[in-house]
Amino acid sequence: MKTEFTAVVPVAGAGTRLRPHTHTYPKVLLTVGNKPIIGHIIDELSAAGIKKICLVTGYLGGKIKEYVSRSYKNLKVSYVEQPEPKGLGHAIWLTRRYVTGPVIVMLGDTIISADLAKFLNSKDDCIAVKKVADPRRFGVVEIRNGYIKSMVEKPEKPPSNLAIVGIYSFKNSAKLYAVLERLVESGRTTKGEIQLTDALSLMLRGGHKLKPVAIDGWYDCGKPETLLETNRYILDRKNFTAKAKNSVIIPPVYISRTAKVENSIVGPYASIGDGAKINSSIISDSIVNENALIINMNLSGSLVGPSAAVIGRKDQLNVGENSEIRFDKSGCGL
Ligand code: UTP
Repeated sequence: MKTEFTAVVPVAGAGTRLRPHTHTYPKVLLTVGNKPIIGHIIDELSAAGIKKICLVTGYLGGKIKEYVSRSYKNLKVSYVEQPEPKGLGHAIWLTRRYVTGPVIVMLGDTIISADLAKFLNSKDDCIAVKKVADPRRFGVVEIRNGYIKSMVEKPEKPPSNLAIVGIYSFKNSAKLYAVLERLVESGRTTKGEIQLTDALSLMLRGGHKLKPVAIDGWYDCGKPETLLETNRYILDRKNFTAKAKNSVIIPPVYISRTAKVENSIVGPYASIGDGAKINSSIISDSIVNENALIINMNLSGSLVGPSAAVIGRKDQLNVGENSEIRFDKSGCGL
């Protein structure tokens, strides 16, 4: 297995679709399964033998840096600041002074279950693709003779149903950076952003070969409903042991060892983060982030943000960081 690859992971976006959670917390630090999204991505890269990672940070980047440097002391991680989210192509271009040799790019808002060796060991430059029902929301590729013929970002009329899903590998990063440089210098944007797909299209037009690698496991973390879906997927795959006092646990469930769960029914598909406190509640199909407090609630299909408090009424909620929601007996917010 090749280990000299550097992984570039762009995580500078504001995560607007996950508001209110992302008002004060970066998307990649939200828990899914047993750890933050970025933890799953870095673990996957590390398991594939990658030791050098370059994170492109921007929005709330300090919090990301703090988590990654605390949790991954064995990896060489560099941080590049993208002051404004000008697009994926721009984010990757900013890493040009930090990367030499082969590079693998993995997006920061998807968890992928794929054999990364297929990318790292291929003689070709590769792009992960997946058949999707509605390709109009994605970059879409057209294939000829086993290689990508063309690609287009979020097309009205997709040339195929094969979407680009967030892993790109290049044997020679210098070629990628040269094309990105041309794009940035020309000031060309599509839908207001400097797009990676535009750079890749330029490469294709210049005769560069890009191989599509089909992957099955692709889990989006960009919206509340897909985050919960990804949470269910992770809990289904891993058999976490969970402890709680005077409670019923219905697997699959993840309860952090530092969480305190009492007099409650937890699961199926509940993730309870570090330091969270749950009492007299029923929680299923939900993610409770670190240090949240939940008392006397019946939650399903809910996301509870870090340090949020939810006390005293049964309902479905989507609560951001440091918020506190209380209801009196008549059901009115206090
Ligand atoms: P997205 O566009 O899906 O993420 O970019 P976002 O902007 O954070 O989320 P929304 O759309 O506002 O809800 C995919 C990945 O690329 C990164 C994002 O952080 C995310 O991990 N990205 C995107 C950058 O780092 N810089 C950019 O300029 C654009």
